[in-house]
Amino acid sequence: MKVDEIIPWGRTFDEYQRIFALSDTDLAGRILGCGDGPASFNAEATAAGYAVTSCDPICAFSAAEIGRRVTDCYETVLSQVKAARDGFVWTEFRDPDHLGQCRLTAMKGFLADFDRGRGEGRYVTAALPSLPFVDDQFDLALVSHLLFLYSDHLDADFHLAAVAELLRVAKEVRVFPLLTLSRQRSPYLDAVRDACDAKGLVVEVCRVPYEFQRGGNEMLRIARAAVGGV
Ligand SMILES: C[S@@+](CC[C@H](N)C(=O)[O-])C[C@H]1O[C@@H](n2cnc3c(N)ncnc32)[C@H](O)[C@@H]1O
Repeated sequence: MKVDEIIPWGRTFDEYQRIFALSDTDLAGRILGCGDGPASFNAEATAAGYAVTSCDPICAFSAAEIGRRVTDCYETVLSQVKAARDGFVWTEFRDPDHLGQCRLTAMKGFLADFDRGRGEGRYVTAALPSLPFVDDQFDLALVSHLLFLYSDHLDADFHLAAVAELLRVAKEVRVFPLLTLSRQRSPYLDAVRDACDAKGLVVEVCRVPYEFQRGGNEMLRIARAAVGGV
């Protein structure tokens, strides 16, 4: 991957908490954020005392390189949001410019934490469907805005292999959203559910208290055993 192939755009701890309906018990565990990119989830979670590891191919680049890419891509991403404005729910964010400022704040939080976090092993260069972690290294793996969303770019086999790999390294996996970029339910959701059902895993679609992409307010939760609600 080259730095000019990435479009950095990241969310906050507060957004992750709602996206994945994270309880205090969830947050007390060992968490993997897979495909966290320039989200400030890890930086903010670490500051709050939680144990979060993030992995993403962009961790191969320096903070300066990622920062330059954030600046270079910002107007393009914002103009795409403006062009598709009706596809989003504008309650939390007043308008695209407000969204952009919030995303920039999140990404600055990530960049300020990146060198230290990489030194501490909290930011790891890795790409699904193969992760450099041992079996059961994490209690919970979170995948925000990667699987299902990019169904036009990542095929069914990729989704199945990615979920199997996440379930190797974590006892439970949560994926959000279930919609594609064009706001259709991912064509791979049923295949992933069926594969997990066949393995005797607990699989459920859960409504969550977060909706920005219109209609995108559900996550997929896959666990090895029933562990109460989320
Ligand atoms: C749209 S961003 C989402 C960032 C963050 N999860 C969030 O929700 O704010 C998608 C991220 O997935 C990462 N990514 C792309 N391919 C990946 C792969 N095969 N494995 C893990 N991460 C990947 C990208 O580098 C990017 O940071």
